[in-house]
Amino acid sequence: MAVVKRERVEMSKLAIEGGTPVRRSPFPNRKAYGLEEARQVIEALDSQDLFFATGRKVYQFLSEFKSLYGVKHATASNSGTSAIHVALGALNLEPGDEVITTPVSDMGTVAPILLQNCIPVFADVELGTCNLDPDDVEKKITERTRAIIVVHCWGQPADMDRFLSIAKKRGLRLIEDCAQAHFAHYKGRLAGTIGDLGAFSFQQSKHMTCGDGGITITNDEELGKRADLFADKGCDWTEDRRYRLRYAFLAPCYRMTELQGAVLLAQLKKLRWVAERRQQLGDRLTESIKGLDGVYPPERAGGVDHRYWGYPIRVDGEKGLSRDKFVEALVAEGVPAGKAWPGKPLYLYEMLQKRVTYGSSGYPFTAREGKMVSYDEGLCPNAERVEREMCTVWINEFYSEGDIDDISEAVRKVASLLPRN
Ligand SMILES: Cc1ncc(COP(=O)(O)O)c(C=O)c1O
Repeated sequence: MAVVKRERVEMSKLAIEGGTPVRRSPFPNRKAYGLEEARQVIEALDSQDLFFATGRKVYQFLSEFKSLYGVKHATASNSGTSAIHVALGALNLEPGDEVITTPVSDMGTVAPILLQNCIPVFADVELGTCNLDPDDVEKKITERTRAIIVVHCWGQPADMDRFLSIAKKRGLRLIEDCAQAHFAHYKGRLAGTIGDLGAFSFQQSKHMTCGDGGITITNDEELGKRADLFADKGCDWTEDRRYRLRYAFLAPCYRMTELQGAVLLAQLKKLRWVAERRQQLGDRLTESIKGLDGVYPPERAGGVDHRYWGYPIRVDGEKGLSRDKFVEALVAEGVPAGKAWPGKPLYLYEMLQKRVTYGSSGYPFTAREGKMVSYDEGLCPNAERVEREMCTVWINEFYSEGDIDDISEAVRKVASLLPRN
């Protein structure tokens, strides 16, 4: 029966042209929080102390996160952007040092580089995974390069074997931005534990969330100590709740509160389920739409998880397909879809194009002797193509197999009926 219905819909008119939509009922909303979070928050409030250093929840959360990830150090903070800033602060880079990263990310990957008066240098991505291309990263290394921030884009870890070997060969530090890749394994190791430091976001859309929050992890004692100091104005609060050291160096205040810690304790219990369920659903979608002409599911690397923060589909302009029309048609079929994230490669945003930084100074760009770094159009052709051609389908762990099959049916219908140039 279901097969008959599928064939009928596939052969019918696109909903955007007045045909029957594949899906007329809404997809399930994500219900991220429940009674366990409420119980934890009430406990935190009841303690009459919401300050992490004298409270219990953040410390307990850090300790559970560390044992789940098998790392020695974890520093809590108030966002993923802060967590990356904490990682860079731990590295203690010099002003003007270059940090290579991807233009297919949130500005939260890049802003901390500038806040530390360092220079972001963009390398291109691979078309199939949207992850940084190690070959292009190697090309972008100069005598000023000190670190690479690898973003595990969409939830699939990047080629860490290559990045580790590049970092080792060239004496560079490696930060993993795991904002979209919670509990994602790369050849048996968890993303975030492979480079020198890993940074995570707990913003609302992430696999585990407290609305906003972040964590920076490392196995390096010295980096871990500096990360703790950097997240709290250079202050060292120890677990015996005493100040050891105040104002060691210039640093922001990114402290996490007990309310966030309380919610995250409950979230940690669900993390494995959320990550694994998203992978099952995303891989099911990939399996059922692969092989379409000009409509590409994300490529999967061997031995690597994909936790699908979102589900990116590339719509090939060279096959005569318009991404914008594809998205419009998919939405008309009832699928929660949108254009690319983050909209365009980060270097094409005004802040970087016009160097809108501190007042009218253009710092830290203008403080460098020698040539200005280039953010011209054409710098990263694959990233520019990805942003022109990407359609994002939003899935979450509450979807059923039937929901995924409806999305698959809609994608196949639009791919076969949408007029091509
Ligand atoms: C890859 C990536 N890095 C960094 C961030 C910044 O995280 P936050 O918004 O929690 O500051 C995000 C947020 O979406 C992200 O997706």
